[in-house]
Amino acid sequence: MVSTGFLASVQNYLSEQPKLSLALTLVGGLVVAKFILKTLLVFAEIFVLPGTSLKKYGAKKGAWAVVTGASDGIGKEFSLQLAEQGFNIVLVARNAAKLNEVKDEILNNKRSSAQVDVKVHVIDFSTDDLTEYSKLGAAVQNLDVGILVNNVGRSHAMPVDFIDLDAEEMEGILKVNINANLRVTKSVLPTLLKRKNGLIINVGSFSGSTPCAMLQTYSASKQFLSSWSDALAQELKPKGIDVQLLNTYFVVSKLSKIRRPSLFIPTPHPYVKSVLSKLGVPAGAKWTGRPSTTTPYWSHAIMDWAMNNVLRSKPLEMAFNLSTQKDFRRRALRKQERERKGI
Ligand SMILES: NC(=O)c1ccc[n+]([C@@H]2O[C@H](COP(=O)([O-])OP(=O)(O)OC[C@H]3O[C@@H](n4cnc5c(N)ncnc54)[C@H](OP(=O)(O)O)[C@@H]3O)[C@@H](O)[C@H]2O)c1
Repeated sequence: MVSTGFLASVQNYLSEQPKLSLALTLVGGLVVAKFILKTLLVFAEIFVLPGTSLKKYGAKKGAWAVVTGASDGIGKEFSLQLAEQGFNIVLVARNAAKLNEVKDEILNNKRSSAQVDVKVHVIDFSTDDLTEYSKLGAAVQNLDVGILVNNVGRSHAMPVDFIDLDAEEMEGILKVNINANLRVTKSVLPTLLKRKNGLIINVGSFSGSTPCAMLQTYSASKQFLSSWSDALAQELKPKGIDVQLLNTYFVVSKLSKIRRPSLFIPTPHPYVKSVLSKLGVPAGAKWTGRPSTTTPYWSHAIMDWAMNNVLRSKPLEMAFNLSTQKDFRRRALRKQERERKGI
C-alpha cells in the first residue's frame, strides 16, 4: 500500500516543479482523452454505425449464399434470414431430412416476400472424405455465389480435461471445425472469385481469443479459424472478397446446450439479425489488433470491449473460463446421472 506520507512528498515535489507537473497532467489528460474517444467510437460502432449492405454481395439479384451447418441453430437462422434478404440458398449439413425441413420453411416463409431458390447438399464433415468436397465444388460451380457462411462447428460433449478427451471426439472437432472450413472454402472460392465482390463469414468464438481449459480442443480450433481468417482476408481483399470472423459469445442452441436466452445469450434470430445488419463493422476489434474480427451482437461487443480495454488480463479471463467450464461439467454429470436413473 502506498503511504499517505509518500503521496504527500510526491505532491510537494511536483508543486516545486511546475513544468514537470504540467507535463504529467498533460500526458494523463491525453491518456484519458484517448480512452474516452476510443470508447465513444466503439460504442458508435456497436449501436449507431450501419453495416455494409447485402446488395453489395448480390441480394435480390439472383446471387446465392452457401451456408454450412444449415440444419439447426445459427446456420439455420442464417439460411432463413439470407433468403428473406433475397439470396438463393445452398443448405449444407449431414441430415437430409432436417435440411429439407429448412428448405420447406424458407419456401413457405410468410415473413418473406422474396422469391428464392433453395438447394440441399448433404455432407457429413466428420467423414473427412475429399470426394465429398469435390462434389460440393461441382454443385456450386455454375451458381453466382455471393456469400459463403462457414458456420458448421462441433464442440465437446461436455467440458473435459485433455487427458480424458475421447479420441473420436478430438478427431471429430478437428475435422469439422478446421478441415471442413478450409475444404469448403477451397471448393466454393473459385465460384466466389468469379463475381469479384463476395463475402466469407467464418463463425468464431470468444473461446478462440481466450484459451479455454476443459474445452481446449474446441477453443484452439476457433483460434485457428481466427488466424486463418486474418490471413485469408488480406489475400482476398484485392480480389474483392471480404472475410469476416464472427467473435461469438454464447447463443441459445443445441451446441451450447443453453435453452433460455438472457441479456448476454441471445437466440439465433436476433444474433444473426445483428450479424447481417453490422457486416464489416468491427465493434472495437480493429483497435485491439484483430483486423478481420467483428463482434456484431451488442452485449457480446460490450463484453469484448470490457475484456480488452478495462480488464486486460488473459489470466483472469482464463480463470473465469475454467470456473465456468467446471460448473458446466458438474451440471452435465448431474444430468447424466438423472438420465441414468430415469428421473
Ligand atoms: N451456440 C453458441 O453458444 C456458440 C458460441 C460460439 C460459437 N458458436 C459457433 O457457431 C456455429 C454454429 O453453432 P450452433 O450453436 O448453431 O450449433 P448447432 O445448433 O449444434 O448447429 C450445428 C450445425 O452443424 C451441423 N453439423 C454438426 N456436425 C456436422 C457434421 N459432422 N457434418 C455436417 N454438419 C454438421 C449440424 O447438423 P445436425 O442438425 O445434423 O446436428 C447443425 O446444422 C459453430 O461453429 C459454433 O462453434 C456457437
